[in-house]
Amino acid sequence: MSSNAQDIEIPELPLVVGRGDEDQVRGVRESRVTITQLMTPQDTNLFGNVFGGVILAAVDRIAYVCATRHAGCPSVTVSMDQVDFRSPIDIGEIVTLVAEVSTVGRTSVEVCVQVWAESVTQSHERRLTNQCYVTMVAVDEDRHPVPVPRLRIETETEYLRHHDALLRRSARVERAARRQAAESTEAD
Ligand SMILES: CC(C)(COP(=O)(O)OP(=O)(O)OC[C@H]1O[C@@H](n2cnc3c(N)ncnc32)[C@H](O)[C@@H]1OP(=O)(O)O)[C@@H](O)C(=O)NCCC(=O)NCCS
Repeated sequence: MSSNAQDIEIPELPLVVGRGDEDQVRGVRESRVTITQLMTPQDTNLFGNVFGGVILAAVDRIAYVCATRHAGCPSVTVSMDQVDFRSPIDIGEIVTLVAEVSTVGRTSVEVCVQVWAESVTQSHERRLTNQCYVTMVAVDEDRHPVPVPRLRIETETEYLRHHDALLRRSARVERAARRQAAESTEAD
């Protein structure tokens, strides 16, 4: 799901979104995180490529850092949207993860994580191997959800990401309602 500027009307920017802490606003760029790591033999599967789980763990960690930077307090992972592995990553390749907040609710922060792979010995061409969305919830010391700062959207790209995030949120709510209905039917 990815909108482009021709399909939707872009409002006047900057724009502040979110239903959390009325007194605090943070820009998307303030919590942006980039991590680069070298893939080593301990990361391999039987085919000599990197285990998918190694990438998922790195995605979860960077989403934590990004959401926690935005929230200003710890957060926990509540959901990870569909993750597709578009191409294998080889040992010796450099993997760069980039995380950015796509939208915020009252206590939740959706983080878009992109995973890029690059061979340092061959073409140096960077390829996008994964893109996924992680929803983190800010919590206090008793693990109760707490309001997060609202989000300042400054660019067209940031607005399109936020727009798509709202569509994903509605889809998640519908899915959860369907699941709940199915579970209560099974229980009868
Ligand atoms: C995260 C957690 C504290 C939320 O508790 P909760 O009782 O569901 O809280 P709420 O119903 O108030 O929901 C809090 C927010 O999470 C969002 N949320 C809840 N379930 C969600 C899901 N499956 N997907 C996306 N967002 C979800 C809600 O929409 C709400 O967002 P908002 O405040 O921005 O509107 C609780 O579910 C939890 O502790 N989960 C385990 C987290 C964890 O341990 N992760 C590591 C796994 S090893």
